[in-house]
Amino acid sequence: MNLKSTPRNPRCDLLIHSGDVIDGTGGPRAHLDIAIEGDRIVAVGENLDERIDAGNKIDASGLIVAPGFIDVHTHDDRAVLSTPDMTPKISQGVTTVITGNCGVSLAPYTGNAPPPPMNLLGGGDWYRFSTMREYMAAVADAPPALNLAPLVGHSALRATTMGDDLSRAALPAEIERMEALLDEALSAGCIGMSTGLAYPPAFAAPTDEIVSLASLVAQYDGIYTTHMRDEGAGVLDSVHETLDIGERAQVPVVISHHKCVGRKNWGRSRETLAAIARARARQRVDLDVYPYVASSTVLFADWLSKAERVLVTWSTPHPELGGRDFEEIRRSWDCSAEEAVERLSPAGAIYFQMDEEDLRRILKFQDAMIGSDGLPHDSHPHPRLWGTFPRVLGHYCRDSKLFTLEEAVHRMSGVPARVFGLEGRGTIKPDAFADLVLFDADNILDEADFASPERPARGIYQVIVNGEQVRRGYEWTGARPGKILKRKKPNGA
Ligand code: ZN
Ligand code: CU
Repeated sequence: MNLKSTPRNPRCDLLIHSGDVIDGTGGPRAHLDIAIEGDRIVAVGENLDERIDAGNKIDASGLIVAPGFIDVHTHDDRAVLSTPDMTPKISQGVTTVITGNCGVSLAPYTGNAPPPPMNLLGGGDWYRFSTMREYMAAVADAPPALNLAPLVGHSALRATTMGDDLSRAALPAEIERMEALLDEALSAGCIGMSTGLAYPPAFAAPTDEIVSLASLVAQYDGIYTTHMRDEGAGVLDSVHETLDIGERAQVPVVISHHKCVGRKNWGRSRETLAAIARARARQRVDLDVYPYVASSTVLFADWLSKAERVLVTWSTPHPELGGRDFEEIRRSWDCSAEEAVERLSPAGAIYFQMDEEDLRRILKFQDAMIGSDGLPHDSHPHPRLWGTFPRVLGHYCRDSKLFTLEEAVHRMSGVPARVFGLEGRGTIKPDAFADLVLFDADNILDEADFASPERPARGIYQVIVNGEQVRRGYEWTGARPGKILKRKKPNGA
C-alpha cells in the first residue's frame, strides 16, 4: 500500500452502494450510490464507492433503494410514546407517519372517558395532554424510531369544549373556544386539522362549523384531512361538502381512506373520482387509500347493515373474543345484533364492505396516496396495520400491475411529502434527509392477513431514518432518531 501518494478521498458516514435507486419523483430507477453524512444525503451518483470513503457501507446489490415511505393516515399518536420502536410501521419501510387523523388526536382532550372513536387510542389515562405543545414535548423527550407530523383532531377539540353534549352544533362561544385550542395546536407546529364527520362526536357539526375552524388552519398554511360524513349512500354529497369546505376556507383538503361502502354503493368511485378530478382544476384536493376491501373502527350497531361480514378486533368486557366473527358470537349468545353490540362494547370491528373494483380504481387515481389507517392498540387488528405498504408494492404493483414500481414509490414518498409540505423528505437527492428503505422488489409482500394480522412483511431489509439505521434485516437496531416534522409554507416563507 502506498500511503504517501494516495490522495485522500472525501469521507462520509454511510455509503449505500450497488442498489437500484428509485428516487421518489416518479422517474425511472438508476444504478446509483448514495452517500450520507449525519442526517442528510450528501451525494448521489455512479461509483461513489470508488471516490468516497465511508465509516459504514451497505451493499444494496439486487435491492431497490427508495425514500422511506410516508404513511399519511395513521392513529399512531399514542403508539409513538408507548411503543417507540414502531415495528408495525418500520417493518414496512415507513419512516414518517401523519398522526391525528379522523378527528382523533391525543391532545387537547383530558377527560376520563374519551368518546368512541377517540377510545381507539386508549382510555382516559392516555388523554393527559391539555395542549398539543405538551404532547409534542413528550414525544420529543422520548422520540420514536420514525418521524411524525401531527394533525389536531376536530372531535378532540369538540369533546374538550362541549363535554358529552356532542350531538348538536357548537354554539358561537364554543367555536371561539375551539379556535383558541386550534390556534394553540397550529402555533405549536401541528400541520393542520382532521375531522371524523361520520362519527358520533362530530356528526352533528354543520359544514359552517368546519369552515370556521378550517379558515384558521388556512391562516397557518395548514392542511385539512377528513373522514367524510358519509362513505355510503351519501358519498358523493360528502365529496362535495369536502370540496366546499376547501374552497370556502381556502385550505388544501385530503379525503381520508377514500372508499364506497355498502353493496348498493359499489361502483360509485367512478362518480367520486370524476368530481375530485374536476375540482383539481380550481383547488387543492388529494386523497389516500388503503389496499383492502374491509374497513376497521369501533363497533357500532348502525354500521353492521352495510357490511357483508364483521370481525371483532377487541372488546373490553370480552377480550377473549378478539378476532372472532360477530355473527357467530351473536348466534352463540342467541340475541339480537344490537344486544350483542351492547354486550361487547366498548369494542372494535372489521367491516367487509367495499368492492375490489372500486379499490383498484381509487388506487390507480392520479397521485392517490397510501395511508394504512392501522389501529395499533387493537388486540386483533386489521392487517393493514402491518401490511399496507408491502401489499401495494407486492400484490397491487408487481402481481396485479396496477402501476409501475416507480409510480408506487412516488405515491408513498414524493407525493405525500409535497401534499403535506414535508420539506426535504420523500425524494432521494443531495441535501435531502436520509430517510431510506432497501427492499427486494421480487420478494416484497405483506404476510399479515385477517387470521394472523400481526406478521411483518417480507422483502424489506434495511430502514434508515435521519441517517440512522433503525432496522437491519428483520431486527430493530434500538435507534430512535424520529423527529417531529413541521409543514413548510407553500410559498417557501
Ligand atoms: Zn377514518
Ligand atoms: Cu382513520
